[in-house]
Amino acid sequence: MTKHFDEAYRILAANDRGGYTVPTDRLYPFQWNWDSAFVAMGFATFDIDRAYRELERLTEGQWADGMIPHIVFHQPSDTYFPGPDVWRTSHTIPTSGITQPPVFGIALRAVHEAAEKAGTEDAKARTLALFQAGLKWHRWWYKARDPEGTGLVALLHPWESGSDNSPAWDIALARVPTTTDTAVVRKDTGHVDAAMRPRDEDYRRFIHLVDTYAACGWVPAEQWGKAPFKVAEIQTTGILLKAGEDLEHLANSLGLEAEALELANYNDLTRKALLAQWRPAFSRFVSRDLISGEDIEAPTQAGFIPLLSLDVDADIVDAAVAEMKLWSNGMKVGFPTTKPFVGSFEPKRYWRGPSWAIINWLLIDGLARNGMNDMAAALRSNTVGAIEAEGFAEYFDPITGEGCGGLGFSWTAAAYLCLAGQ
Ligand code: GLC
Repeated sequence: MTKHFDEAYRILAANDRGGYTVPTDRLYPFQWNWDSAFVAMGFATFDIDRAYRELERLTEGQWADGMIPHIVFHQPSDTYFPGPDVWRTSHTIPTSGITQPPVFGIALRAVHEAAEKAGTEDAKARTLALFQAGLKWHRWWYKARDPEGTGLVALLHPWESGSDNSPAWDIALARVPTTTDTAVVRKDTGHVDAAMRPRDEDYRRFIHLVDTYAACGWVPAEQWGKAPFKVAEIQTTGILLKAGEDLEHLANSLGLEAEALELANYNDLTRKALLAQWRPAFSRFVSRDLISGEDIEAPTQAGFIPLLSLDVDADIVDAAVAEMKLWSNGMKVGFPTTKPFVGSFEPKRYWRGPSWAIINWLLIDGLARNGMNDMAAALRSNTVGAIEAEGFAEYFDPITGEGCGGLGFSWTAAAYLCLAGQ
């Protein structure tokens, strides 16, 4: 197998803006939260100092209440909408006002372990500072996004899921008005084919939500009361639990007993809540729409992400794996983000069908955790093969394997370094 490591290194270097990495030039010209966490794990395979730096620069955006925003606008750029003037937040440096999946804790453990292995001198001090930031963020999740203590955390904007345009949001988002006083001047469709991007109408809903929360002064309790979109979400909660386990592990190895106990309590609560979201009739887990009180039944990849942080019984593993095989059947590149050929499946429109290397990475880890090593290995070589054939695209058409969206993508490079290096 030809290895394309040099190309991956070149992409990470080209997207470096001074200690942080943009997802790709022009389309995403700032620091994105979960992108940076994946990128830090990629850096940890060859440059530990740079891996720490990526996470440190992300925490420059952390708010006083503990939230780490989905975008940190370190430097201005006019190639992206919505910019700081639309978000109207008040942190010391401009940021968005919403968050993204907390991969941070997972990345921190990976970086720390790579540093220990390499005998890096300042590893402990750097890990400790980042651990405190991570813990503060997890506290924020439980306080701001699970005020009733259910164990599942809620999203108030589809973009917080990282799976921005997923059919999982169709019903909940349709309730959000399309009205906004903000001029919606999209930039994304100037960089990539509009057929791969969200519809205009949905963009107006996305901005309506931003207007609503800006009017709450971005105060979590007020947003919770006013939110027209509120979803207790299993992909984010599954990631939160894995990151919570990794932070708990770090707390123990750093000798932080009280913090380890606090994290263990969060993790126990979430473990039970997440397991209760399994639906045997669908052979997958489901999110809950907190406005209607109903399960979200749209078939998306999120239904399998909880395997990342749960050790489930054999009957659940068998059912989930059989369902995953059904979705992958006949696909050139797994794993589709929407079940192939249902009405909402669009193999080229982002998050409505395409395969993403970082989602595969999470699924691979979840399969391996639950003993499905052959399937994990097959998905890994399928993902690596897709990147080697098509390049470091944002995502892949699962039917044809074609690379789509932005090119020279940082997290695809990071995924390659971690998956092909194994
Ligand atoms: C898109 C994706 C999101 C990602 C961002 C930058 O908005 O939906 O998950 O973080 O691009 O890559």
